[in-house]
Order: sequence, then structure tokens, then C-alpha cells
Amino acid sequence: MYFKDSKGFPKDFLWGSASAAYQVEGAWNEDGKGKTNWDEFVRIPGKTYKGTNGDLAVDHYHRYKEDVRLMAEMGLKTYRFSIAWARIYPNGNGEVNEKGLQFYDDLIDECLKYGIEPMVTVYHWDLPLALIQEYNGWEDRKIVNDYVNYAVTLFKRYGHKVKYWITMNEQNVFTSLGWMLAMHPPGKVNDMKTFFQVNHHANMAHAYSVIEYKKLFPNGNIGASFAYGPSYALDCNPLNTMAKEDYDDLRNYWWMDVYGYGRYPKASFNYLKSLGMEPQLLEGDSEIMKEAASKVDFMGVNYYQTTVVEHNPIDGVGLATEMNTTGQKGTAKSSGIPGLFKDTKNPFLQTTDWDWTIDPMGLRMCCRTITSRYDLPIVISENGLGAFDKLEEDKSIHDPYRIAYLKAHIEELKKAVDDGSEVWAYCTWSCTDLLSWLNGYQKRYGFIYVDQDETQNGSLNRYKKDSYFWYKNVIETNGEVL
Ligand code: BG6
Repeated sequence: MYFKDSKGFPKDFLWGSASAAYQVEGAWNEDGKGKTNWDEFVRIPGKTYKGTNGDLAVDHYHRYKEDVRLMAEMGLKTYRFSIAWARIYPNGNGEVNEKGLQFYDDLIDECLKYGIEPMVTVYHWDLPLALIQEYNGWEDRKIVNDYVNYAVTLFKRYGHKVKYWITMNEQNVFTSLGWMLAMHPPGKVNDMKTFFQVNHHANMAHAYSVIEYKKLFPNGNIGASFAYGPSYALDCNPLNTMAKEDYDDLRNYWWMDVYGYGRYPKASFNYLKSLGMEPQLLEGDSEIMKEAASKVDFMGVNYYQTTVVEHNPIDGVGLATEMNTTGQKGTAKSSGIPGLFKDTKNPFLQTTDWDWTIDPMGLRMCCRTITSRYDLPIVISENGLGAFDKLEEDKSIHDPYRIAYLKAHIEELKKAVDDGSEVWAYCTWSCTDLLSWLNGYQKRYGFIYVDQDETQNGSLNRYKKDSYFWYKNVIETNGEVL
């Protein structure tokens, strides 16, 4: 749509930035924290770029006051961060660790001191190891109870201070990389049956916690954050258009329909059934999923890129179990499901050094689809550019590429607001630099440079990048000056 005049962003719009516990905190074995799946996985040779890990990360656990002060100085309205389950319940269940609870109380209070709205992610991929040893973590239905118990502990402790909750971060990503592509724990490849069952457990964990939260805080806000990658059909060949339909159903709506409608898309479910791969639902699950969907307050969107989809013959390309984690452009491989779809390059768009397509308009498309399909408010819970940054001798960092990326995306978001999407927040990924799970410390996303390298050497000093000052002005002008 074309609008001659823009309404601009709503007056109370939440300009923010996001992080995740494992990627920033460090202090991996301090104050009673239990070990997690990631504490183990990063120690398997070859799994992460140059063996990087989050043992120290960017030491947010000890430097959160400095980080929050820098956020406040930038004018941030919201800080989205995740809680490490193993700090709260070192064994995943059982005894609660007061020191862990206290850390997040302190972090939340520090945000509130500056008028920064805390937005909390309950689960951003770090699972207590004890639950894997006890019953294989997400693979067992038992996890639903343990997750809900953990989530309710958080709601009760922080619910009067935290008004925005995200149950799951990118369920589609952690399960795909964990059970299909062997790139995240537990490192399984093509285990399709378990993949869909694990997802069902995560859906039930999400659903029950939404219901419990609403009992405690009917006026609070809760939803899940989904890594939404809209797609294009390669061309008007009906085969490619059907491939796009299949892609959207299996790669996007499989999750979003659960969050938004409380049900799985029919065609995909029938396809999986024909393969004997469909998830097993217990009696009453469908009703619980529906009840939760009627109660969610928003759809969280992590937006990075779009995909071009074409038909994939039955003997065509399978899933790519390697990714460009080095930043050497052009090394990513095509991936697909034989008989359905495969991805291909978009000749109209540039990519990052890690081969992620840069497509600002895709962000508007996310909003349009969510608005017309689910009619839910939207929280953009992540969006950002991973890039190489250079610390100059005078400690400045010039990152015009990041400014250009964010500017273009915010412009499109503004158009989505004109379209009628109810957008509550925009969180960039990320505020400080942090550990990229598979790509180490050289793939940087922050407004604030952290002196830290792959060998975990560096002063950990924080330096403001040019983009820091730029975003400060964006916030000050409520997105009018980009
Ligand atoms: C999202 C995750 O997938 O994208 C973040 O929620 C992640 O945790 C971010 O860091 C960027 O991905 P990457 O692989 O470049 O670090």
C-alpha cells in the first residue's frame, strides 16, 4: 500500500534491544548455577567457530550495571533479556536457587531505576543439563511440567515488575538445529519424528504457561517469539508457487498457527501423517492449545531474512547440515525437502558476510501477514545486522552499514504501522556485542563494542559505536529522524 502521509510510531512505542543469557552473562558456574546443554555442547570439538563458548561471554553477569547505564544513556525504552533456567533451578526442577533469583531481581530493578521496561524471555535455548540426564530434556513430555513450574516461579517472583513475557525464543530454530541439522544440542541429524514431538512438547509448555500466567496477571502481556522468514516463490510457475505454500505451511505457520490459533496447519499435519512423522497429541491437548491461543497478547517476531523457494524434485537436495559460520561470503549451501521445496538465491538482494539476505521489506511483510492472519499485536523482538567491526585506535567504531540496515528496516516498520499493524515494540539484536552461538565473537551485532575475541582475550571494555548515537536520536525523535 502507498500512504501519502505517515502516522509515525505510536507515542508509547517501545524502542529496545535484546540479548540472551548464554550469549551475554558468562559466570557459567557461579552462584549455584547448574550446567546446561550449551555448557556441554560448546566443548565438543568442531561445533562452534574456533571452539568459542559462553563461559565468560561479555561478562554481563558482573557488568550489568554498566550495561544498563549505557542503555539508559541511549534512551532505551525496553531491554529484552532471557533468564537462565539453570540459575533458578540448577537441576531443572526441585530446589530453587535464591542467588539466581536475586540476580534477575537486581537486573530488573536496575532497568526500572532508569525507566527501562524489562521484557523477559523465559527460555532462550539454555536447558539445565540435569533434565537431559534425567529424561532427555525436550524429548520427554515430562519437560512440560518442569518448564511450567520454572515459568510460574518467574511469574510469581517478578510478575509485579515485569509486564512483558516471552515464553519461547525461536522454537523453530532451536528444534531444527537441534534435531534436524545437528548444529545445536542435542546434535541430532534428520530425526524428523522426534523433531515434531519435541515441538509439540514445547507447544504444550508454552500453552500451559500462558494459561497460568493469565491466571496470575490477567492484565500482563505474554507471547512467544518466532523466527519468521517470509518467502517468495521463485516465479509464477505453479510448481514453485505450490513449493512456497508448502514452505510457509511447514516452516512458518506450523508454529505461528499454534501460537495464534492453537492448532497445526492441516495440509502439513496430513503430510506428516502420511510419513508417520506427525506429533502425538494427548487427549485435551488441542483444547489447551486453543485456550492458550485465545489468551496470548502478541506475536513476537525475530526478523532477519526472507527466502526464495522453488520446487524440489523427489530426488532433489536435502537439508544442509553446514552453515556459513566464518563470515566468508558465498559459502552457504542450498537446503530443502525432496519432493517439496528448496531455497535459492535472491538476485535482487544483497547478503551479509554470513550469507543472510538483507530484505527490509520482509519486515513489513511479517507484520502484514500476522495482522491479517492472526489479528494480534506485534512485538519485534529481534532484528539486526551481524558484521565485522573495527575498533579504531581512538576507540571509535564506524559502522555505517549497521545504521543503513536498521534505518531501512525501521522505515519499513513504519509503513507496517500505516498499514494498520499494531506494533508495540522494536528490539534490535543486540545492545552490546555478544557471543553468536555458532559464529563466535567476530560476528558483531551491538551498538556497544565489547573488547573480546574468539580466544576470550580482551579487556571486556565497552565502547560506543557510531550506531549507538544514531539509535539514541531515533529513540529521541520516536523514529521520525532516521
Ligand atoms: C536469533 C537468536 O536466531 O538470531 C539469537 O534468537 C541469535 O540468539 C541471533 O544470536 C543472531 O544469530 P547469529 O547466528 O548470527 O548469532
